[in-house]
Amino acid sequence: MFKKFSKFEDVLINKFNQHPLWAQLPKRSNAFFIRLLLQLGCISNHFVMWYEQAKLGINIEFGKELIRSILRDEVSRNLPTHQDNRLYDLIEKIGISKKLALSVKPSPTTQKTIKKLFNLVRYPQSDYDLRVLVSLRIAGEVLVAETYRHIVPALTTRFSIKPRDSKFYYPHFKHDAKDAKGHTDSFDKILKSLIIDERTLAIAKASAKKAFAIRLAFYDQFV
Ligand SMILES: [Fe+2]
Repeated sequence: MFKKFSKFEDVLINKFNQHPLWAQLPKRSNAFFIRLLLQLGCISNHFVMWYEQAKLGINIEFGKELIRSILRDEVSRNLPTHQDNRLYDLIEKIGISKKLALSVKPSPTTQKTIKKLFNLVRYPQSDYDLRVLVSLRIAGEVLVAETYRHIVPALTTRFSIKPRDSKFYYPHFKHDAKDAKGHTDSFDKILKSLIIDERTLAIAKASAKKAFAIRLAFYDQFV
């Protein structure tokens, strides 16, 4: 059953990579590219609160612990947080001013995206663990990595930033992608235990589709 779900995810990933923004991106200006990064950053800024809220409703302890371990990566002891690393890439590597990086306002579409992402993890919902874990995996991990799949090469062509010199975009691309043995794959075990029949498979697919649609609508504002 999980294999069926995983195949369904792969279809969504393919569709995501066919979004017209990715084909247009190389032809757009650096100012446009930076605007995209800053709006994406408005979503990243909410990551910890979003995962925290999702975790509070989870029933299975193993599921809670999975989310905690991702949050611990995000805000590790004795290390810069992922948001610190994002600012490092923006300011030190790309050369955006601190003022611009920190004063950016989410666009109306970005605001709507954030609201909908929080709505995905609202409590209560039937089959909460399954719905919410699938939502986080798709909207918080898989499609984040797929986004940076397009961002990382652009950092090199536009600003001569080698992937290894990026502290945020490249590590997240490497770590969150499917089959990278990182965050996305850490959901495999629990999803295998939750997607066990046609009913739960249908719920997982519907949740994945919903999370996918919310993220896709975010990119529509740039085409
Ligand atoms: Fe992640």
